[in-house]
Amino acid sequence: MAEDLIIHTGTKEEQYRTLIPQLQALLEGETDLVANLANVAAALKEQFEWLWIGFYLVKGDELVLGPFQGPVACTRIRKGRGVCGTSWAEARTLLVPDVEKFPGHIACSSLSRSEIVVPLIRKGQVVGVLDADSTELNTYDDTDRHFLEEIVNLLNFPDGNP
Ligand code: SME
Repeated sequence: MAEDLIIHTGTKEEQYRTLIPQLQALLEGETDLVANLANVAAALKEQFEWLWIGFYLVKGDELVLGPFQGPVACTRIRKGRGVCGTSWAEARTLLVPDVEKFPGHIACSSLSRSEIVVPLIRKGQVVGVLDADSTELNTYDDTDRHFLEEIVNLLNFPDGNP
């Protein structure tokens, strides 16, 4: 496909529905995990202009920062710590409408007000998380949960440690 992303300006659902086929085309035939994570992060940033969007990958007993778009971020997060480490420990998507109300939230950026974290699950194991942060409260809802879970399922992980 051409490298220019088609940006939709309609409802959030329409934006995801325009983006997902473009992501499928970008990922098709490319097996390199870092390249694919980088393009997914870039496409989501371009479409939604969130403060921060990116991946952390499980390495041993920590999440380690992977491809992302946005301000510099914390590099390592322990299992059960912050929103990302809790999503890993509980193997489920976490919607955080107000980060100040999430006990243990890790503030990589003081500008972050709300957040969603989606675990990447392969063969029953969490292998990483997708994290999105917004400068506004209440940015993420069930529509984001639904489509971001669909997007992370487009990613192919090599066997073994990603
Ligand atoms: N806020 C996250 C840390 C990652 S940054 O937001 C990029 C957390 O509490 O796990």
